[in-house]
Amino acid sequence: MLTPQVAEGVLVTGSAGFIGSHLMRHLAASGRHVVGVDRRPAAAGAASGARVRHVVGDLRTLDLEPLLDGISAVVHLAAIPGVRPSWQEFDSYVECNVLATRRLLEACRATGLPRIVVASSSSVYGDSAHERMSESQAPAPASPYAVTKLAAEQLALAYAQRPGSRLSAVALRFFTVYGPGQRPDMLISRLIDAALNGTEISIYGDGSARRDFVFVDDVVRAIGRAMDTGVGSGVFNVGTGRNVSVAELIAQASALAERSPVVVHRDRQPGDVGVTLADVSRTAEVLGFRASTDLAEGLRRSIEDRRSQMVAVGA
Ligand code: NAD
Ligand code: UGA
Repeated sequence: MLTPQVAEGVLVTGSAGFIGSHLMRHLAASGRHVVGVDRRPAAAGAASGARVRHVVGDLRTLDLEPLLDGISAVVHLAAIPGVRPSWQEFDSYVECNVLATRRLLEACRATGLPRIVVASSSSVYGDSAHERMSESQAPAPASPYAVTKLAAEQLALAYAQRPGSRLSAVALRFFTVYGPGQRPDMLISRLIDAALNGTEISIYGDGSARRDFVFVDDVVRAIGRAMDTGVGSGVFNVGTGRNVSVAELIAQASALAERSPVVVHRDRQPGDVGVTLADVSRTAEVLGFRASTDLAEGLRRSIEDRRSQMVAVGA
């Protein structure tokens, strides 16, 4: 039985990012006192209101304790996110994903914060030998990025386990998240742009890679469950339990956009895993969360959003 523990003030790190900006708007709309922190300023259309504050600052150097004043839950999304560039820029990944997480956890400890939700990643599983990736499996990260995400989630769990700690930590292992405003380095945003414009897209490998794509509104809902339920520390998958190949995705997006991209196949990239597929049973049973947006609906909404942006800039 879950005990509702509705957090009062919420601090969102990475609030100017793709997932962060959706979460900020959702929390603002529900009337919560919310503070967002990001090293980039919030974009036009960001959450606003009397109970919303945006702070521009870098978690590697910012004085974090004052940000936790009046806050009872932190959602830690700030990180350098891509799999493929992480072979080249590892120092920045370690600084932003691991060392900055430690600074934040120290501030949580010092202020006696009760709850942190940390964004982890399906990439921690690597190329799984099992059909579905389940939290009980041993992680086997296949990229430097994934190593830093595993380090960050485990660090949060270690802080929560410290004797006398008031903190509970929930690490959410997001599968590939998509939706309006998706990062421009990711497949679906590139695919929609290329389809709508009839331009080229590079596909790494032969199109047989499979991903469990989860819509951003579902991810925001899962974060809400993790923040506001009395569940103790642990890790939880956030995916749909279904996956699709890159080739199938291209066909589906082209049909919805009524135009096709020019596909150019390139070498598979180091660190990219072949297949992701979430076992969603623990998240459903313990957090009471299941994704509800199917891929066709999520793609339709993403294409619609992109089309209206193109009209707005006269493209
Ligand atoms: P994003 O890049 O859009 O957002 C991350 C934000 O963090 C950026 O706005 C960036 O400026 C900020 N940031 C990075 N380092 C910082 C620092 N040192 N100080 C302050 N701000 C900093 O990425 P996203 O796709 O929204 O991902 C959010 C989180 O979810 C990340 O932790 C990522 O690893 C994780 N995740 C994302 C996906 C996905 O498919 N998008 C999947 C699994 C996990
Ligand atoms: C995404 C996020 O970028 C990571 O932050 C996150 O941790 C990860 O999901 C996750 O699931 O945990 P990824 O699956 O690589 O990583 O997401 P995309 O960039 O959308 O790539 C999906 C597939 O498309 C991969 O096979 C990739 O190789 C391929 N791809 C991507 C292309 O073929 N071309 C591109 O231009 C981009």
